[in-house]
Amino acid sequence: MIRPLRSRWLALLAFAAAVPAQVQAQVQTPPQSPSRSPSPATTLLVHADRPGPRIAPEIYGQFVEHLGRGVYEGIWVGEDSSIPNTRGIRRDVVAALRQVKVPVIRWPGGCFADSYHWRGGIGPRAKRAQEINASWGGKPDTNAFGTHEFMDFMGQIGAAPFVSVNVGSGSVQEADDWMRYMTAPTDSDPGRARAANGHAAPWAVPFVGVGNETWGCGGNMTADTYAASFRHYAAFLRSYSGPRANLIAVGADTDDYAWTETMMARAMTWRPDPTPLAYVDPRPLMWGLSLHFYTFAGNDWGDKGRNVGFDRTGWAKALARATLTDELIARHAAIMDRYDPQKKVALAVDEWGAWFASEPGASSLYLESTLRDAVIAGLSLNIFNRHADRVRMANLAQMVNVIQSLVLTRGGEMVVTPTWHVFDLYKVHQGADLIPVDIGTPDYVEGDSRMPQVSVSASRDAGGVLHLSIVNLHPDRPAPVAAMLAGVAGRSATAETLTAGRIDTRIEFGKADPFVPVPLDGVRLADGRLALTVPARSVTMVTIR
Ligand code: AHR
Repeated sequence: MIRPLRSRWLALLAFAAAVPAQVQAQVQTPPQSPSRSPSPATTLLVHADRPGPRIAPEIYGQFVEHLGRGVYEGIWVGEDSSIPNTRGIRRDVVAALRQVKVPVIRWPGGCFADSYHWRGGIGPRAKRAQEINASWGGKPDTNAFGTHEFMDFMGQIGAAPFVSVNVGSGSVQEADDWMRYMTAPTDSDPGRARAANGHAAPWAVPFVGVGNETWGCGGNMTADTYAASFRHYAAFLRSYSGPRANLIAVGADTDDYAWTETMMARAMTWRPDPTPLAYVDPRPLMWGLSLHFYTFAGNDWGDKGRNVGFDRTGWAKALARATLTDELIARHAAIMDRYDPQKKVALAVDEWGAWFASEPGASSLYLESTLRDAVIAGLSLNIFNRHADRVRMANLAQMVNVIQSLVLTRGGEMVVTPTWHVFDLYKVHQGADLIPVDIGTPDYVEGDSRMPQVSVSASRDAGGVLHLSIVNLHPDRPAPVAAMLAGVAGRSATAETLTAGRIDTRIEFGKADPFVPVPLDGVRLADGRLALTVPARSVTMVTIR
């Protein structure tokens, strides 16, 4: 019999009080310096007896833009390259992305999307428009990677395309023509044009972004202006075969709650008033409303903090900012709830990641990848999971060689980043049912930065396996964790953990990967109670079968 919540909490607290001594003796954590005594216990009440919504696989989505070495070199090397490739797309990158089950990729931007003209990127490559990347330093763009190459890339990975159309410097007609080119049946002129360029069958385009950051690089619009523009585009962005594309409207930058309010009030439904019309689609006009939020370690965009060689302040400031993701989502979602209590419209965090100052000489927005990124990824993904009722897509910026990447390349070499390892550990959450968790955890305080020390999310997959992802934000204190599991039939628990010797340990080409997760000893499960100690500065996945 399940005891009432209050008495279960009391039992848990008593259990937790006994944990550190019992568990510490059995735990073997990877080497840490300096070593410190564990923090007070973190207590969890895992409600597997009342599962929540499904965690959309698309929460584990990616974003890639024509920027720096993201597309060119990171994905596209060309068919004649000595780097192993399939039709010009590098095989090592495809294999790494397949392994973490990337579900969806947003392309071609970013700011670039609002100066991208798709026609320049189709047809024989030798004849493609030689463009200037106006968004990112005026660098040349050969258009070698265009619609066909992107769709081929999606096919090789097994990911769904999320195409952002040009609102800022394009037109409704240009966007509609692109949709026709991609989705029209073969026995139409757009379909025949596509077939002539090598792809007879229409592509499925499940997600279409209507512009990007139209409040900034995408057009300097007010929310009112964009709401009207979105309605106009939405009227013409049809799929000419298969189901209607899910339209994602440009949402807020960080905490611009007024933008969310205006978009929900003016652009959610097919008509500005709620009058039902027989011929209109009963679904909302927008499938999703986006949110962009980046983490950095300094005080503002001009002071993003160092990417490598940072100190504890740089660690704590970045993690404190990433922790804000929870509040941002909750507040945007509360506004959405007022207009859409049934939660039909998704919040799509279609740009997120850790964006620090690049080292001198690095290509545009190229960042080294450190343990801090792994902890930010684990923390952010836990937050997205916990908001699975509203957050149904998120896209890491930007997958390869730009900002917080899953993989980095240097010519023919490739390394997977600590962030990739977190996505690999967390892929078990994709499509699983969210399991609510009540948490009691001490604060981690560093100077002016204060945040909960431990972050958790849990899910149960179709096979009944429970997965608990636990992030310890403290740079040098292990965290004893005591959990009561309500409604869990599992009898065995194992855990894998990712950490490293220093907060700024980074991945380096040509060296052994220091971030490969290792089994965590000392995980105990008995009588519906779980106990373990997670290492300082770590991301851990517990599996209960
Ligand atoms: O991800 C880099 C840039 O950040 C994107 O192009 C833009 O949308 C955002 O401001």
